[in-house]
Amino acid sequence: MLEHGAAPPVGDSDPRPPSGGLGTRLMRRKPVERLVAEGGKGEGGTLRRSMGVWQLTMISIGATLGTGIFVVLGKAVPAAGPAVILAFVIAGLTALFSALSYAELAGTIPVSGSSYSYAYATLGELVAWVCGWCLILEYGVSVAAVAVGWGQYLNELLDGTLGFTIPDALSAPPGDGGYFNLPALLVVMLAMAFLLGGAKESARANTIMVAVKIVALLLFCGVALQGVRSGNYANFMPMGMAGVSAAGATLFFSYIGFDAASTAGEEAKNPQRDLPRAIMLSLVIVTALYCLVAAIAVGAMPWQKFEGSEAALAGIMKAVTGQSWWAVLLAFGAVIAIASVVLTVLYGQTRILFAMSRDGLVPKVFSKVHPKSGAPRANTVIVSLFCGVLAAAVPLGELADATSIGTLFAFALVNVAVIVLRRTRPEMKRTFRTPLSPLFPAIGFVLCVYMMGSLGTVTWVVFGAWMAVGLVVYFGYGMRRSRLATAEK
Ligand code: ALA
Repeated sequence: MLEHGAAPPVGDSDPRPPSGGLGTRLMRRKPVERLVAEGGKGEGGTLRRSMGVWQLTMISIGATLGTGIFVVLGKAVPAAGPAVILAFVIAGLTALFSALSYAELAGTIPVSGSSYSYAYATLGELVAWVCGWCLILEYGVSVAAVAVGWGQYLNELLDGTLGFTIPDALSAPPGDGGYFNLPALLVVMLAMAFLLGGAKESARANTIMVAVKIVALLLFCGVALQGVRSGNYANFMPMGMAGVSAAGATLFFSYIGFDAASTAGEEAKNPQRDLPRAIMLSLVIVTALYCLVAAIAVGAMPWQKFEGSEAALAGIMKAVTGQSWWAVLLAFGAVIAIASVVLTVLYGQTRILFAMSRDGLVPKVFSKVHPKSGAPRANTVIVSLFCGVLAAAVPLGELADATSIGTLFAFALVNVAVIVLRRTRPEMKRTFRTPLSPLFPAIGFVLCVYMMGSLGTVTWVVFGAWMAVGLVVYFGYGMRRSRLATAEK
């Protein structure tokens, strides 16, 4: 193994020519060996390897299973009818191609930066930066967006159990009818407290929360099964395949997050073996659960009745049992589900910035590691305050919608990175190989681009503005301070 910062072997990924022209500088790549050799090392300490395949799988499920499944049926069923089950399968397949690519690269380059690091090794520094900037949308901004929704479920839970709700003034940001979203700040601060304790403690808390949300959904299945009528499936595809694919695009949001385990590469005990397993396993479990919930939901309630229903699952429970307290139980499941998304996605954001900071592209403070807890504490506090205040005080609107584009862009790059690395470094040991490469990664790429194309113009404009800001930051800061440029030890 190479020493931290030692000269890497010369090869296709040789990073040495910072002296070249602008094009050469933007294209400089970080050798895989160097990425791996630096694994865990931060400023003043190292991250601890404490997680096995189980915790890693839970991180990915934690980040994936969130608001989506609790609210999305109200939008997707009216578009597809009972064939929403097919839409879940199609969205799951779309995610699968990218998940295979993530699994291959996570096993080959098991570091914390996820797709940012994969892009750095294969597509060069500028693309890596762009990818890292997109990941801030996928992780940082989406933590804020998800935290905003937490307050609504908390209010439902408080209303159903204690008979009071937090007033709008304190549960919505300015512009959305309030002054400050206190619950949103609260859930981010709670997640921060766990993360400051260390990755192991956070993983333990996440595992418990994942268990609760899975039990809540299984409970829904068990109860709603009694209301299933075969007649509800009779008109299976009322809107044809067009409806199914429109619903699939809407549903894709609920699959985002399976890649979260790939941000834990430097805290996994056996990352080469366990990261690919965790990514694939989480996607299989989540897909199976989603299809089951969808199949039972559309069997228990005529599809026309889903229109405009924000709490379809609670409505079905109530209709089947005649009791309204099931809604409270589902609200509890959603409160826990969203809290675990916040915890795991916040974790992912801190680790991605950790990797970017070690490469010099963002300030060093993000790669400082606390010697006792083995956690990047300063990083965690900065990221949490940023996300917490963003959620509490800024109406996110279109920025939240842009998270899907950012995510799909990162997924698309990972598919390309698999193809590039197979060509440039065919000899590398791969613990997991995407089948039928380059066909499967190419399909994954096309599906991501197709999904991006189905998003609205305003979302694209916001995404373009976000990327423009990112490029200004890169050319003003990262490009000069990149460790590949300064050859700093
Ligand atoms: N997949 C995550 C959710 O559904 C983003 O909340």
